[in-house]
Amino acid sequence: MIKLDITKVTPFVGEDIIDVYYGRAIKAQETLVKGTCPGNDFLGWLHMPTTIKPEFLEEIKAVAQTLREECDAVVVAGIGGSYLGAKAVIEALSNSFQWLKNDTKNPVILFAGNNIGEDYLFELTEYLKGKKFGVINISKSGTTTETALAFRLLKKQCEQQRGKEVAKKVIVAITDAKRGAARTCADKEGYKSFIIPDNVGGRFSVLTPVGLLPIAVAGFDIDQLIKGAQDMDRDCMNIGPTNLAAKYAAIRYALYQSGKKIEILANYQPKLHFIAEWWKQLYGESEGKDGKGIYPASVDLTTDLHSMGQWIQEGERTIFETVISVENPEYKLLFPSDDENLDGLNFLAGKRVDEVNKMAELGTQLAHVDGGVPNIRIAIERLDAYHLGQLIYFFEHACGLYCQLLGVNAFNQPGVEAYKKNMFALLGKPGYEKETEAIKAKLQ
Ligand code: PA5
Repeated sequence: MIKLDITKVTPFVGEDIIDVYYGRAIKAQETLVKGTCPGNDFLGWLHMPTTIKPEFLEEIKAVAQTLREECDAVVVAGIGGSYLGAKAVIEALSNSFQWLKNDTKNPVILFAGNNIGEDYLFELTEYLKGKKFGVINISKSGTTTETALAFRLLKKQCEQQRGKEVAKKVIVAITDAKRGAARTCADKEGYKSFIIPDNVGGRFSVLTPVGLLPIAVAGFDIDQLIKGAQDMDRDCMNIGPTNLAAKYAAIRYALYQSGKKIEILANYQPKLHFIAEWWKQLYGESEGKDGKGIYPASVDLTTDLHSMGQWIQEGERTIFETVISVENPEYKLLFPSDDENLDGLNFLAGKRVDEVNKMAELGTQLAHVDGGVPNIRIAIERLDAYHLGQLIYFFEHACGLYCQLLGVNAFNQPGVEAYKKNMFALLGKPGYEKETEAIKAKLQ
């Protein structure tokens, strides 16, 4: 199981206070399980890992296998919760130089529909020219502009390059059962499709086909990912004193109440960069409402100690830090000795690089605590599918509990609509005539 070390938090908030909030988190746990919390029509993620059927995982793997056989590249079109989970897991499990390897076993996994950069889309379509590529089109609503825009371009290119019949085989839709343009298109074209359950919101959907299909296409073990999540799901059901998700929720809330308004998720493995991006969305979109919520930020360390380190050490004292630590790296690399020792680093000779990294981690943690930054440490044994499954479910469950302590509905995102309304008004989308008039008047 993952380990949660809070010894560097208690100098800032008393254990008695944490215990009070822990008790409340356990009560929140009961409402989650009974389905009586705010947003209770979006609790499908809660037991997703323990209820997902092995036959369903087999079906996902079979579709993934077809894409792997038929494609040199697969583009995953999606944004927010329809993209970040898959991206995070694939990055975490991939070789750091995957994109430079001449790998003929695994298709290149690319992402689109998560921005509207013209250069990005142009360069993507250029790269795909002449390639045997497929597309996984992911959108719960089926109407998200960024995704729809990229999908239209990719669909046309795929059909032109591979013909309509092959395109049908290598385009897969993951969307709502009935609603939205992505569903209409998938049904009309006869694409293989998976349903995003009504009761699972985007940012809680990585353990559904939304995350599982791209991860399986990339060649990673979705059974182990689910297994890790299942074990964590069982652990999170415990209402005794050792529920890790409830503890993390209680500590976050205690720190927030004590004036710590920003949480920085820090990692010491570059492969975890997108886990932090996924986490930021999970917490940011879930808790940032009604004028409340911790601002979730992230740093890649030690890289960012040479950019954000100064701020963290001595800037405004409104932050706390949560470190994700990987106990055992996959590989072993010893630091060599050098006769001349011109760089003065012979004191490290014979040590593993990871030992240096771990001392950097500990040293930084101690320095930040001395500088007034409370520090939570979450350790996973290794960076594999099983432990990522645990970590993902842990963060999801803790988010569901924490938002109840904060008094917000974790599962909606009304604020996301504001920019869309303005963008559609500015672009003159049919049905937005009044808004177009109003926004033009505002801009004069
Ligand atoms: O968490 C969420 O619900 C959002 O971030 C959505 O995932 C995101 O807006 C994409 O929506 P859709 O899947 O409908 O295209």
